[in-house]
Parts: sequence; C-alpha cells; structure tokens
Amino acid sequence: MSSINDPAVLFQGTTLEGPEIDRVTRTLGDLTDVFSDKDALAAMAADQKVYDVACYFPVADGTTAGLFFGITYIYPGKVGTEYFMTRGHFHQLRDRGEFYHCLEGEGMLILMDEDRQTRAEKMYPGSLHYIPGHTAHRTANTGNSMLVFSAFWPSDAGHDYQSISEKGFSGILVEQNGEPVLASK
Ligand code: 6PG
Ligand code: NI
Repeated sequence: MSSINDPAVLFQGTTLEGPEIDRVTRTLGDLTDVFSDKDALAAMAADQKVYDVACYFPVADGTTAGLFFGITYIYPGKVGTEYFMTRGHFHQLRDRGEFYHCLEGEGMLILMDEDRQTRAEKMYPGSLHYIPGHTAHRTANTGNSMLVFSAFWPSDAGHDYQSISEKGFSGILVEQNGEPVLASK
C-alpha cells in the first residue's frame, strides 16, 4: 500500500502553522536575570513582550538523531542601551550544533565559546549561520522592526540556561552612537 498525505506543517513567509506547533512568549518579566541595566529594567512594564518562539517537534525531546525546527520573532526595543535579545543557552549536550537562517529584520547572533570568548555575526534577510557545538548562542534585534529567523537543531541537544543565568555572556550588545557595539561586561 502507498499513500499521499498533506504536510503536517506549513512554513510560509515567516509563519509556522499546523496543529503540532508549540508556541511560547518571553516577556521582560521572564528575563530579569538577562539584561544588565537593572534600573532601566525596573522602569519598564514586566509584561512587555521580548520574543515569541514557534516550534515543530516531530519527535520527543531527547530523541537521538531526530531534528527540531523553530522560528524566533524578536521585538524591537532596548533595556537602557542593550538591545532586546533572547535568553541564550549552551546546548545541554555540548557538542550539538545548530543552523540559524535570518528571514526578516536586522540583528546580531552573539556566540560565546567555553573559554568565554564572545563574538558576533550580523543577521539580515538571507544570512545563514552555523553555530558549532560547545558554543552558547543568543540573538539580539538591532533594528526598528521584528527580527525573524528560523533554526534547525538536533532533537537530543537540550538547553542549558543555568550557566548563562549565573554568569551571563562575557560581551553584551549595546547601542553606542546609534550603532551596535559588543562591549565587555
Ligand atoms: C534552540 C534554538 C532556538 C532558541 C530560541 C530562543 O536551541 O532551541 O537555539 O530555537 O531556543 O531562539 O532562545 P532561548 O532558547 O535562548 O530563549
Ligand atoms: Ni540552540
């Protein structure tokens, strides 16, 4: 027997649609350990959205040799001079890599290795980024519109948020004279 089926998910433009899509929103209130300027943060609304993530998990989390797909939507904004950004993480299985592909907007992929050396890559529509294993990754929106990118990663990668929550990245992305600058923390 053979069969022809509709796809489980539609990824059109920047939208991911289907019954199996998981969606999460992170607000400033969820990210109080992430931004450096605590006074600026305290003056902003805790329910201010910073980013949304839509994910397709076709296999269970932790499955060896499966793949996950997600779209991240970062709102434009700053806390003090620091751009709105994702929490950032190492993968729990440290050697697991990932691809990011920018769809819309402008931003920066901030990467930090296990020796805490931080670097950044510019993101703009069409830019493709390979994130090697053993590398923490976070994205920041440096523009005035939404930053949208897709991501592909192994289903057994997992997320280690703890070490970033405790120590942060060694570099933070701030606006200086209207330009994004990677400043040491
Ligand atoms: C992943 C991806 C990506 C990431 C989002 C939100 O490993 O799942 O890197 O989907 O999770 O961009 O970033 P945070 O997970 O750091 O909040
Ligand atoms: Ni990741």
